[in-house]
Amino acid sequence: MNIMGIVLAAGQGKRMKSKLYKVLHKVCGKPMVGHVVHVLEQLQTRRTVVVVGHGAEAVKSYLGDRVEYAMQEQQLGTGHAVLQAKDLLANEDGLTVLLYGDTPLVTSEAVQEMIRVHQEKGAAATVMTAIFDNPFGLGRIIRDENGRVARIVEQKDCTPEEREIKEINSGMYCFDNRKLFEALSQVKNDNSQQEYYLTDVIGILVNQNDIVEAYCTPDAIETLGVNDRVALAEAEQQMRARINRGHMVNGVTLIDPANTYIEADVTIGADTIVYPGSVLKGNTVIGEDGVIGPNADIADSTLGCGVQVKHSVLTEAEVGDDTSIGPYAYLRPGAKLGANVKIGDFVEIKNATLADDVKVSHLSYIGDAVVGRNVNFGCGAITVNYDGFNKQLTEVEDDAFIGSNVNLIAPVKIGKGAYVVAGSTITRDVEEGDMAIARERQVNKPGYADKLRSKFAAKKQASKAGK
Ligand code: UD1
Ligand code: CA
Repeated sequence: MNIMGIVLAAGQGKRMKSKLYKVLHKVCGKPMVGHVVHVLEQLQTRRTVVVVGHGAEAVKSYLGDRVEYAMQEQQLGTGHAVLQAKDLLANEDGLTVLLYGDTPLVTSEAVQEMIRVHQEKGAAATVMTAIFDNPFGLGRIIRDENGRVARIVEQKDCTPEEREIKEINSGMYCFDNRKLFEALSQVKNDNSQQEYYLTDVIGILVNQNDIVEAYCTPDAIETLGVNDRVALAEAEQQMRARINRGHMVNGVTLIDPANTYIEADVTIGADTIVYPGSVLKGNTVIGEDGVIGPNADIADSTLGCGVQVKHSVLTEAEVGDDTSIGPYAYLRPGAKLGANVKIGDFVEIKNATLADDVKVSHLSYIGDAVVGRNVNFGCGAITVNYDGFNKQLTEVEDDAFIGSNVNLIAPVKIGKGAYVVAGSTITRDVEEGDMAIARERQVNKPGYADKLRSKFAAKKQASKAGK
């Protein structure tokens, strides 16, 4: 079957009071229009047209070539918006699913149900409806004496009796494609908002004796249209609960789902435990048997199996199996850790590759470095990677030992198994198997501590007397 999709995304969304165009506001890390397009991708539509207007360039640069675009220069209503797709789609035979870009909670399952009803009944149009206790602001489904859909009336055009109707228009439909565009050309703007309403297509089809069906979804929240930030927060909460439920069903333990924030595209392996306060973002992938959190803030990172992350921030990092991170570590873009690595408290890693079994246990900065296997960095050891002009590389080969508080002034290379004595400032390469020490030799002055004390006491006395 030839399925097409149309997504309306041209509105500015005045009620959002935002510089950002409405459909680009994110729900669980993904722009609303991205959720809607994803639903159509799951349905494997052959063509999908997104109608853009306000913020067209921003919407296009986000969606890229996942879809085709139609431009609506002036926002004259939802019907007018669909009409802009006419040049692209009018000659297609098949079924067109129409979704609004501001309705991010819809699932492909619900749309599939609507399509099933549509095909079973041989309908020209099927509208997804829902029952709301408080339908204020939404289009109402008017049914005739036989209970069949007759038309849709917008809130602002409702009579007092119509306002009492609790069955609403979700803004999601499927149409026989040719009938949609034929009927659209008959839509007029003689209503309170002087807009061309897509919803009028329903009445037009009914009047020409076409079959129009309604699929009333049992899960009304899926139809939530986001017009303001209150609804945006509601959508976020609903989506989050859905995402979290999905992970739990897949075998992930969430200690407190209400306090766990996982964005839409994150994947997590079975038997991983996520503690509260964790925020998992972007394209993060976490393997099995991990222990994540409390308070892990992980974005666009890939973690192997058995990884532990406590009270730490990871951005664009790669972490091998059984590696442990934190508490209070910071992995920045380009941090690539092997297996069984230990990154301890107050350690920052940036653009550095650390092979298996490396230990950086406390208070270190490692930037622009390549570190071999089984290297140990003592407390406070750092790479000095930046001279104010250029970033320079530090190389440390397998089994080397870097003592506490060592400064490795890049560019510099520490050979295999070399030993760098604590407190050294290393400016020259150290060969394989060598020991390097680079610090002042210590001088002890016997009894001088007491001398020093009396000297200072006398000075203090003198300055008091002087006052
Ligand atoms: C619309 C429906 C209403 C339904 C509600 C569900 C119409 C006339 N009304 O009302 O029956 O209950 O959705 O949420 O369809 N858009 C354009 N170009 C335009 C106008 C709108 O692209 O000229 C886009 C918007 O960006 C938005 C979508 O269409 O994504 C819906 O528009 P909106 O103004 O929010 O319609 P509602 O008043 O919510
Ligand atoms: Ca809306």
